[in-house]
Amino acid sequence: MNVGKVSRSFGGVGRNLADCLSRLGKTPLFLSVMGTDEHSESISRYCRHMDMTGVRQLAGHSTATYCAVITGSGELSLDLGDMDIHQQITEQHVSKFKESLCSAPLVCVDGNVPTATIQYVCQIAKEHQIAVCYEPTDENKASKPFLSDSWRALTYISPNLRELRAINRSLGCPVPAELPARLEDIVRTAMTLTRPLLTQLRCVVVTLGAHGVLLCSRRTEGSISVGPATHQQIAAGELCATHYPAIPISREEIVNVSGAGDSLMAGIIAGLLAGHDTDICVRMGLLSAYLSLRSHEPISQEISTASVNLEQVKARSWPEVKMWKMI
Ligand SMILES: Nc1ncnc2c1ncn2[C@@H]1O[C@H](COP(=O)(O)OP(=O)(O)O)[C@@H](O)[C@H]1O
Ligand SMILES: [Mg+2]
Repeated sequence: MNVGKVSRSFGGVGRNLADCLSRLGKTPLFLSVMGTDEHSESISRYCRHMDMTGVRQLAGHSTATYCAVITGSGELSLDLGDMDIHQQITEQHVSKFKESLCSAPLVCVDGNVPTATIQYVCQIAKEHQIAVCYEPTDENKASKPFLSDSWRALTYISPNLRELRAINRSLGCPVPAELPARLEDIVRTAMTLTRPLLTQLRCVVVTLGAHGVLLCSRRTEGSISVGPATHQQIAAGELCATHYPAIPISREEIVNVSGAGDSLMAGIIAGLLAGHDTDICVRMGLLSAYLSLRSHEPISQEISTASVNLEQVKARSWPEVKMWKMI
């Protein structure tokens, strides 16, 4: 027997996004499936602050679980996922909520959703001109919308560098074998890898871990815009990359890195939905990510409309932002 500490937390990406957006005062409708097992009861209790009416319970299926063995120094040594139930997030299930989808200001999709369902959501989004954000989830799932023309319906995507490389590979674009470590090199690589996406997407949010985040987008009226814009405005703006350093945090303060990327995106989205400008949106994201890094939960319970808002962003001093033209 190996002796160790065992703890449980609740994911995954889609749930994290809905959790964080709910804490930030939004009312996301979370569409998913779970079993009728004990896990599902715990999840329902844990998610009382969220609208779970779009989560279907299926007898005879196990709620998705993921088990990771982490060494004393925090490295992953073994992991095991039982995620078969994700195949039940079908077009048929999602289509029951078509009216809600069509009236949503934004739809977020994670990489655990089956490719056919992602295609269905993208098709609806295209027909009804709804903004879609794709959270690639991991390197193997990142390419799902890119296996067909679906990706052209995406508005935002939030990959890290590895996921961005996987997406470029599936588009048939050249990719580097090694990913850089120095910030200047990371920015250059990210700019090259986001370029093919920016022919269609509004904004690529490249998450850079301790380095923060790089926003790649077209510049309209002086600042990078992530908010709604007309097609003419999008076509007219020049391509720019803007780097926002992360909020400094010591190793000792970081309790759990999972959920940081989801908190970042939820913070940005909450800012977008409130109509804030780009800098404020990104900083609401960085602040949410910072709070979640300090928490055992993937989404910090400290995240709220009181801790993440325009005033809180303005009350902090922020590291310098740098912008590059993408040539
Ligand atoms: N070691 C760290 N130090 C400071 N901030 C961090 C660190 N790791 C993550 N973050 C913050 O969390 C955000 C998302 O984390 P990241 O690891 O880039 O996302 P993902 O898990 O999706 O790859 C980053 O943009 C940054 O703001
Ligand atoms: Mg991510």
